[in-house]
Amino acid sequence: MKRLELHTSIEVYDQINQLSALDKELLIAAKEALKLAYAPYSEFSVGAALRLANGKIITGNNQENAAYPLCLCAERVALFNCSSQFPNAKIEALAISAASKHHVLKTPVTPCGSCRQVILESEFRQNQPIYVLMQGDVGSIYKINSIKDILPLSFDGTFLQS
Ligand code: THU
Repeated sequence: MKRLELHTSIEVYDQINQLSALDKELLIAAKEALKLAYAPYSEFSVGAALRLANGKIITGNNQENAAYPLCLCAERVALFNCSSQFPNAKIEALAISAASKHHVLKTPVTPCGSCRQVILESEFRQNQPIYVLMQGDVGSIYKINSIKDILPLSFDGTFLQS
């Protein structure tokens, strides 16, 4: 028997001012986007902002439905919004921010498993990693260089190629 050890690394920033001006701007765009979320059921609003290689910022927020399984996360709304308008654009970065009506978020919000898989598809499609910034209400900001850092042993299109 051999053991496969998996290792990951996350950058942790104590303050938004430690980020570059572009990254700060992207996190602020994600925070702004969450204000327009449609989240009457969870009362948990999430905003996502993508920065393209040409500097353009595309946002999305969570869109809920009374039939709960139909709720769509902010990350996927932003990514599908981007893909539908700019299918060939390269995405450099994704920022995620969230706010609950009921409690203060003391840790950064991290993307759900389904969104991780969709972010992976975007990386695969553009053959380039997308770095991800994550933020709560207070406390640190997390940064990863690629979604693969938090989606180990992932499944992508290479498995389907002969
Ligand atoms: N949600 C997101 O939009 N992104 C995430 O990464 C986690 C969860 C949304 C889905 C749902 O509308 C609400 O947050 C509560 O799960």
